[in-house]
Amino acid sequence: MQRSEAGAMKILTVVGARPNFMKAAPIIAAINKHNRRLFTGSAGRQELQVEPIRHILVHTGQHYDELMSGSFFNDLDLPKPDIHLGVGSGSHSAQTAEIMKKFEEVLFAEKPDAVVVVGDVNSTIACALVTAKISFDSDGSRPVIAHVEAGLRSFDRSMPEEVNRILTDHVSDMLFVTEESGLQNLRNEGVSLDKIHFVGNTMIDSLLQFKEKAEASTILEKLALAREAGKNGGANSGTRYALLTLHRPSNVDNRDVFRNIISGLEELATDCPVVFPVHPRTQQRIREFGFEFNPAGSAKKQNGGAQDSRNAREGILLTNPLGYLDFLCLMKHAALVVTDSGGIQEETTILGIPCVTVRENTERPVTVERGTNTIAGTRSEAIRDAIRRQLSRNIGNGVPKNWDGRAGARIIDILARSHYEKTSYRPSPVSNAVPFEV
Ligand code: UD1
Repeated sequence: MQRSEAGAMKILTVVGARPNFMKAAPIIAAINKHNRRLFTGSAGRQELQVEPIRHILVHTGQHYDELMSGSFFNDLDLPKPDIHLGVGSGSHSAQTAEIMKKFEEVLFAEKPDAVVVVGDVNSTIACALVTAKISFDSDGSRPVIAHVEAGLRSFDRSMPEEVNRILTDHVSDMLFVTEESGLQNLRNEGVSLDKIHFVGNTMIDSLLQFKEKAEASTILEKLALAREAGKNGGANSGTRYALLTLHRPSNVDNRDVFRNIISGLEELATDCPVVFPVHPRTQQRIREFGFEFNPAGSAKKQNGGAQDSRNAREGILLTNPLGYLDFLCLMKHAALVVTDSGGIQEETTILGIPCVTVRENTERPVTVERGTNTIAGTRSEAIRDAIRRQLSRNIGNGVPKNWDGRAGARIIDILARSHYEKTSYRPSPVSNAVPFEV
C-alpha cells in the first residue's frame, strides 16, 4: 500500500491555519538537524550511508493574512512554503474541497514518502483524506500519513475540530500522541497499537525554544502595560493584567453566549486590564452584535477595583491578533489567561500561568490534571467563580510526560526508522537518539 522505493526519504509537511505553524516548526527543525548531522559527520559510520531527508512545506492558505499567518513564519524561523495553495476562507465544505483538489495535484507532482499533518483544522483532514485515497501506481502505493497531535477527544461532535480529529486519526498510518488521554482514546477506538507513538508535544517544543526570545518583544510597552513598573505587583511586566482569547464558533457566533462570557469577565476587568487580541471571526461578530470595547493602550487607567462595574467593559482592551512572540510574552507575564483555545491551555500549563477555559469540555485533560487549567463552561457566574478560584489558587506547574522540547526530534527519528526499515535501504536507520518515557 505504501511507497517502497529505496533512497532519500521525502517528507511533505502541511500547514494551513494559525495553530499549525508552531506545531510544524519543530518537525522542520528536526529534519534540518538530522541532515546537518549527516553533513557534519557527527553521525555514526552506518548513519553516514543514509541520504538526507528531502522536505517540502505546503501552505494551504486556510489562513492567509499577515496577522494570522505571515508573521508566524518570521517569528518561528519557518522556511518560506515551497508550495502555496492559496485556498482562503469559505464554508467548511468549500474550503475542505478546495484544499483537497489542489493538494491532490501536489501529491501527484511531488510523490513524497510521508505526508505530515498537524492538529485538527480543515487543512489537516483535507490533506490526510487526499493522501489516504491517492494511488501512485497500479499497486496502490501512496505516502505514509503521519498525524501529529493524534488521539485528542473532546467527545463533542458539534465542534468541527472534533470531526477533523477523529477522521484524521482513522485514515492515518502513524499517530503521534501528545498526552496519555490520546493513547487511551485511540486504544478505545480500536486503533492498532503499532501505529501509536507517544512522543510529546511539538507546540511545547516551540514554546521552550522561543520562551527567552519572546522577552525581547516590546508588546508590553506598546499596550502600556510596562509603564507602571512594580506598582500592582505583576510579574516583570509592571502592570498586573489578564489575557483573553475567544474564537470558537460556539462561543462567538451566538450573541447571548458571547455576551454571557463577557459578563463573566466584568469583575476581572474592574480588578485589572484584560487584554483581548481579537481573532478575525470574533472581530466580525463584535461589529455585527454592536458590542463596545476599548482599544488596548488607549484605555483609561485602571485603579485596582475602584472602577464601577458599569464601566467594566472599559477594562477589556482590544488588539488585533498578535504574532507568536508578542503573544508568548503576554502569556508569560499575565496574572491569568481566559481562553477557548486548545493550544493556550497547554502553553499556560508549561508557563505555570493560571488558565480558565470557557468551554464545556477539553480534549486536553492533562492540562487540568497536571497543569494550571480549569474548565469553567460559558455561564457568567461559573466564569466569575472560576476566575476567583484560579486567582487565589497556589499554582504549581506540573510538566506532562514527554513535554520536554524533543517531540519533533522523536517524530523524525520514528519516521526515518520506519522508512528505512520498510525500504530495507539500510539495516541501521538514522537515530537522533532521543530518549523518551513510555
Ligand atoms: C480555524 C480552525 C480552528 C483554529 C483557528 C485558529 C478549522 C475548522 N478551524 O478556525 O480549529 O483554532 O483556525 O485561528 O479549521 N480570516 C481572516 N484572515 C485569515 C483567516 C481567516 O480574516 O487569515 C477570517 C475570515 O473572515 C474567515 C474567518 O476569519 O471567515 C474564520 O476563519 P476560518 O479559517 O474559517 O476558521 P477559524 O475560525 O479561524
